[in-house]
Amino acid sequence: MAGDPRSVLLIDDDETILKFLSIHLASAGYKVAASRGGKDVFSVFQQDVFELVICDIRMPETDGIKVLEFMQDKFTAVPVIMLTGVQDATIAVEIMKKGAFDYLIKPVLKEDLLRTVHKAMTHKDMMERNRKLEEENRQYRNVLEERVEERTQQLNKKNMELKNAYAELKSLNIQFALVLAETIEAKDQLTFGHCSRMRFLCLKVGEFLDLPQAELDTLEFASLMHDLGKVTVNEAVLNKKGKLTDEEYEHMKRHASMGERILGRITPLKPLAKIIGAHHEKFDGTGYPNGLKGEEIPLITRIISLVDTFDAMHADRPYRKGLQTEIVLEELRKEAGKQFDPWLVNIFIENELYKIDAEVDIGQSFMHLKE
Ligand SMILES: [Fe+2]
Repeated sequence: MAGDPRSVLLIDDDETILKFLSIHLASAGYKVAASRGGKDVFSVFQQDVFELVICDIRMPETDGIKVLEFMQDKFTAVPVIMLTGVQDATIAVEIMKKGAFDYLIKPVLKEDLLRTVHKAMTHKDMMERNRKLEEENRQYRNVLEERVEERTQQLNKKNMELKNAYAELKSLNIQFALVLAETIEAKDQLTFGHCSRMRFLCLKVGEFLDLPQAELDTLEFASLMHDLGKVTVNEAVLNKKGKLTDEEYEHMKRHASMGERILGRITPLKPLAKIIGAHHEKFDGTGYPNGLKGEEIPLITRIISLVDTFDAMHADRPYRKGLQTEIVLEELRKEAGKQFDPWLVNIFIENELYKIDAEVDIGQSFMHLKE
């Protein structure tokens, strides 16, 4: 404690030396305890705590080496200074190896004694400070680790909440698209069930092409919404069974750009609106509304355009049977490089991505569409 004299234990079987050392240490301000050694020497440590031990090497019964070993074992923080005769110099080397702080050769000079004791006390204080710093460091690290762990848990929780919110939003989007697609179908009776097949086949192509999940989501949404603009087309034109007049055809064509305009009013859906607006563009640049060519047409749109035509020809209509698969595929082959991306046509046909397995129930209207 600050202000208290520092305590030193002297152990020597020679009473004269004990006295000599005690006087000098006490006059230098140390609190001194003395022991003559012997077999009960260790009992002194049960009654008192010492900051330094000065111990003779050669003593009957319990020698200095045993005391040093005891200190190393029980009081590692307490430095031990050994006393040795000149003739014991080789032993001195040995005791240093065993962990003694230093040694003094008899007869001990007062200056040497005080200097060595002071050095030992300073060393002890430094070791104590280091130990405290290490302990503080360790505690600080623990606190930091706890904080990091706590923050990680909070972040994981937030992440999970975000994931759930995203899944909910995605489900809401698809439900929204389903309702709109159902609205389009209600108006355009000729394409009953078209959108649900579109959704199924487009996703089949997208998954085959290993598109990232975000693009698959866009593809799913766009396949359902691609004909959204038809809500602006006159029903008589939409459901006309015969050939359209030029004027009617021009009116019908507007559904592509109208779909883009309607969806484009929702800012986050602008990219999707562009995909939908281009679904009647042709690979050779002869399509509408903008005459886009090749890869100017987004890949998702090229998929939709191919699947759209396939289903339009293949599906039964109220006034006619659908064309046979082989005939439709032949048509697609003919249009590869003209209306469609030839690479996609090849993949679509070669991998039979147009097939809807009998056991897959995609429903005929959205009332039955499975999530
Ligand atoms: Fe269309």
